[in-house]
This record gives sequence, structure tokens and C-alpha cells, in this order.
Amino acid sequence: MNQFFKLLILISASEVLAQSTSRDYSEDAKLNFTGLANKYGQKTEEYDFISQEGYILKMFRIPGDPTRPVLFIHGAVDSADSFVVRGNTSLAVALARDNYDVWVTNFRGSKYSRRHASLDPDADRAYWQFSAHEIGFYDIAASIDLVLRITGEKRLSVIAYSEGTTTMYVLGSTRPEYNDKVKILISLSPICYLHNTKPFMSALLKTGPVLNTLLQAIGTEELLGANSATTAIVNELCNPKNNGYVTCLLNGLFLLTGSNAKEIEPEFFPVILGHFPAGTSRMNLNHLLQISHKKKFVRYDYGPIRNMAVYNSLVPPEYDLSRVTMKIALFVAKNDNISTLKDVALLRKRLPNVVDYKVMIDEEFNHVDYIWGRNTHKTMFPMLFKILNKYN
Ligand SMILES: *[C@@H]1O[C@H](CO)[C@@H](O)[C@H](O)[C@H]1NC(C)=O
Ligand SMILES: *[C@@H]1O[C@H](CO)[C@@H](O)[C@H](O)[C@H]1NC(C)=O
Ligand SMILES: *[C@@H]1O[C@H](CO)[C@@H](O)[C@H](O)[C@H]1NC(C)=O
Repeated sequence: MNQFFKLLILISASEVLAQSTSRDYSEDAKLNFTGLANKYGQKTEEYDFISQEGYILKMFRIPGDPTRPVLFIHGAVDSADSFVVRGNTSLAVALARDNYDVWVTNFRGSKYSRRHASLDPDADRAYWQFSAHEIGFYDIAASIDLVLRITGEKRLSVIAYSEGTTTMYVLGSTRPEYNDKVKILISLSPICYLHNTKPFMSALLKTGPVLNTLLQAIGTEELLGANSATTAIVNELCNPKNNGYVTCLLNGLFLLTGSNAKEIEPEFFPVILGHFPAGTSRMNLNHLLQISHKKKFVRYDYGPIRNMAVYNSLVPPEYDLSRVTMKIALFVAKNDNISTLKDVALLRKRLPNVVDYKVMIDEEFNHVDYIWGRNTHKTMFPMLFKILNKYN
């Protein structure tokens, strides 16, 4: 508890402070998506594309059989890197080796997609006015369109993780024509309902509105940007020379995600810190916070006056999950303290086309093991490959 609040205060305080520090980690901590993929034997391509609202986004591709495209969607505050950060035992590399055509998109506002046709992310607050809604409705739609246009295919598979799954539920419910473009959505650690999260995630969600008001008051619209002062301070704090493995992982991040020390070894932790966090908007995290507090999967709540203008209603409308008709496989874990079995059960009841439901066998499997776990290639990949093959 004590440690948790210390970390919380440090992170909030860091948003106000400004300092720069140097990183000194192994090679994999420094390589970017392309560098990592190349190191582990994969050729890559890059696509810059523009979504309807003028955001310039980047997608990475590891080309394979173009009749089997797979789109990867990362989680909150993250980037494409998480799907290659385990090198030879990471999901994007494994699927590329199996000759899938791998496409990995990047959310607006994250480090590879921090650009806009007319807005300056460093100067214009308007740039940061987006949430999971805009990411799903505009950017994921544009990502799917790009993959289908380049490959000439009519349909693709999607592997989404954490908030990446949220953006797919947004898209499927608000633009139902996209359901027909998806062969299968594999939802790793699904995030839709968020009112049964476990301690300390639940505690963080309770403090959330206060933090949000504070951040808004000091004019912070971008959170945990890859090159921000905050991230530099977090990196310094989490450095091995400061015993960062214990402070930041065992007594830090694990309090939120569920604890599973055997899956993230001390030598690997600095590699994670070289890639995460990758930045997002305050509004994006606030949207998840609102969903948690309202116990409903709703659109962003701007407050009654703006809601009236945007939605013609004082309260934000609920997303209609019955319109998400694509085939979905849900992957859950008992020790995932963010995406809990209880919340996913609510989601599962409302989704009309759940074709598979997998509970991770390792009792300690947590929220981040899907992307960062040391043995995930042995425990989860075989299940995932089987489902993907079945629908491809
Ligand atoms: C990745 O790193 C290489 C080598 O430093 C650099 O040339 C390239 O521009 C980087 N790519 C991206 C997308 O950041
Ligand atoms: C990754 O795996 C491939 C194929 O097994 C192997 O040839 C290569 O040496 C490995 N690369 C690294 C950096 O471990
Ligand atoms: C995660 O939730 C479980 C069940 O409520 C709890 O026992 C555990 O302490 C939580 N994990 C952490 C690291 O807080």
C-alpha cells in the first residue's frame, strides 16, 4: 500500500518536474520495432497513413503470405514494440515465422504516431482531445482499410491486447460494416467493463478522478510520452542501479497488473522500460476511468452541456455490444487484476458471436504476461495459433 502510493505520488509529481536522464541498457532496450524485428531475422516495411481526423499514423509490417493478414493492436500507453520486445519468443515474430502477413499498428499520440496533418502535439491541446472512441472509430478502421487495400484481401484476422480490444468493440458497435472484414478477433485480456478490477487497480481507479482533475488543472493533456520528463524520471527511478526491479515492478506495476515475478526476469525488465510507456492522452485514460465508474461501456462523458451538443443527451450513450457480430475468441487469466474473469463474463454474455474462451492455465498469469511473459510462447502461443489457423 505504502509503496503503491509512493509510486503514484512520484509519477504525479514527475508530471510537474522536468529533468533529463540517460538510459544505459542492453541493445534490445534501445532498438526500435524495426531494429528488433531485423535482429530476430525479420524484414520489415513501414506505412505512414492518415486517419479521417488528420492524425498521421504508422504501421509496421513483417510481410508474409498476403492472403493471411493479421493486424496487431497494442494496449494503453503502449506501442507496436510490445509485440516484438521478447525477440525470438514474441508473438509478431512467431507469426511471421509461420508465414502470416504481420501488420502492427500504433495508436494516435503514441511514440510512432505522434503526428498530425495540421496540429502540433507539442503546442496544440486540440491534438490530445481523443479517447478510445476516436482510436477505434477512426484509426483502427483506417488501419484495417490499409491492410485490406495493400493485400487486396477482403478480410483479415485481428489480435488485440488490453485497450486494443476496447477499440475493436467500439469499432464493431459503431461501424458494423467492419464486422464483415474480420475473420476472427483474438481478444487478449479483454477490456470492456472495468468495475470488478482487483486491488490495487481498483484503488487507482478510485483515485483516478482526483488525478484527472489535477492533471487537467496543470494543463497536462499528454501522459507518459516516450520522450517526456515523466518517463525520464520513471526510467531513472526504475534503473537497475536504483534497485528498479523491486521498486517499479515487484512493488510497482505488479500491484496493478497482478504479480508474477517468474515471468519477468530482472535482466529483462530494463528492456521493457526501453519501450514502455509510449504515451497517450489524459482523455484516453479518463475514458476508461469513466467506464469503470459508470459500470457501463459508454462513450466519453464531456459533462452535461457538451454531451447535449455531441450526443443530444445529457449522459453519454452506451455502446451496443449486440452489434459486434464478428467472431471473437476471449483470452483471460485468473491473476489478471485489470481484466478480471467477472468483468469478462459480463462482456461474454453481451457479445453475440464468441467462438472461443480460454483461461490461461498458469494460475499466476497476469495482465502483462500476454506480451512480456518469459514462457508465454510455450503457454499461450499454441492455443492462439490453433484458433488463428482454424479461421485462416
Ligand atoms: C528505427 O531506428 C533506426 C536506427 O536508429 C532509424 O534509422 C529509424 O528511423 C527508426 N525508425 C523509427 C520508425 O523510429
Ligand atoms: C532467433 O531464432 C532464429 C531461428 O531459430 C535463429 O537463427 C537466430 O539466431 C535467433 N536470433 C537470436 C538473436 O537469438
Ligand atoms: C490481485 O488480486 C488478488 C485477488 O483479489 C489479490 O489477492 C492480489 O493481492 C492482487 N495482486 C496484487 C499484486 O495486488
